[in-house]
Amino acid sequence: MVAILLNVTLQVFFKKMDEPTVVFHWLPFIGSTSSYGVDPYGFFFSNRAKYGDIFTFILLGKKTSVYLGTKGNNFILNGKIKDLNAEEIYSPLTTPVFGQGVVYDCPNAQFMQQKKFIKHGLTTASLQSHVSAITAETRAFFAKDASHKRFASQCGTFDLPTAMAELTIYTASRSLQGKEVRDKFDSTFAHLYHDLDMGFTPINFMLPWAPLPQNRKRDFAQRKMADTYKAIIQQKRLEDYGYGLVSKGAASPYLPFGAERHRCIGEQFAYTQLQTVLVSAMREVKFFSIDDGGEFTGTDYSSLFSRPLSPAVVRWERRSKC
Ligand code: HEM
Repeated sequence: MVAILLNVTLQVFFKKMDEPTVVFHWLPFIGSTSSYGVDPYGFFFSNRAKYGDIFTFILLGKKTSVYLGTKGNNFILNGKIKDLNAEEIYSPLTTPVFGQGVVYDCPNAQFMQQKKFIKHGLTTASLQSHVSAITAETRAFFAKDASHKRFASQCGTFDLPTAMAELTIYTASRSLQGKEVRDKFDSTFAHLYHDLDMGFTPINFMLPWAPLPQNRKRDFAQRKMADTYKAIIQQKRLEDYGYGLVSKGAASPYLPFGAERHRCIGEQFAYTQLQTVLVSAMREVKFFSIDDGGEFTGTDYSSLFSRPLSPAVVRWERRSKC
């Protein structure tokens, strides 16, 4: 009680005039963690209306400052490494998932080299060659004899987000990593990916080492994946491709793939994959909403990568007659 009173008093009577306004919160440490965690967009919009483009909120005890709008995007994405350092924030969360010495577990200059190296493999020619692999995977996924048995008959219902997460892994592994990797992936591997993904929960910004069930699953999945890839890499040689193009400019209201040094290198692959999966799936089956109200499912923000809330059940009907 004393802590709450003290926290409120400090906010109301001792505002620091030279710092961004702090979003009002009752509980110290917890601050705005739950309202931000459940609906980050709603949280940003409502606080933008109250405080403007710049404000601070308490996220698991940390003062977290936000700068919204096009100017904010440019300020953050073009910030100097000494002021805005992604690896410092992300590393506790990502290193147990991605592994050591890569991405945010190394100096930014080294990660830039790793990004270039991956980008080398994502040229127009290589993307074109992925289309047939992605098509074949998608057809097999919707086939009557697929081992998961979701589409074993002429029509039925299925949970779209779970199925799409599985298919995304099959198509990505087959095209980006080749048939040897894909052949090791049954739905157990899809579950391991899910376990890795669940390592990206907000609580892990604070407690990535905690012996929580999701962290144990994350570490098991990481070891299993690393062992699988190590075995394959030993048999493989790497190829070299040219560069692709990415759009530039951080002062934009719409940056779905980020900008500047943290710019996504997977945009072209992502669109190739999405469009090929969609077209190939539509050739096999028709999809119908079973919700008369036409409501879309909400967004699940529980992992770093937002996705549709599951279950979101859809009706399907095979196009070909048996
Ligand atoms: C629809 C799919 C995708 C979306 C919406 C997306 C979005 C993003 C965004 C917003 C960023 C910037 C992150 C930041 O500023 O901190 C990013 C970075 C990145 N993405 Fe993607 N991405 C997608 C697919 C992919 C794919 C398929 C790959 C790999 C093949 C990939 C690899 C990367 C990498 C390596 C970075 C750089 C991170 C950094 O420099 O800090 N992404 N992505």
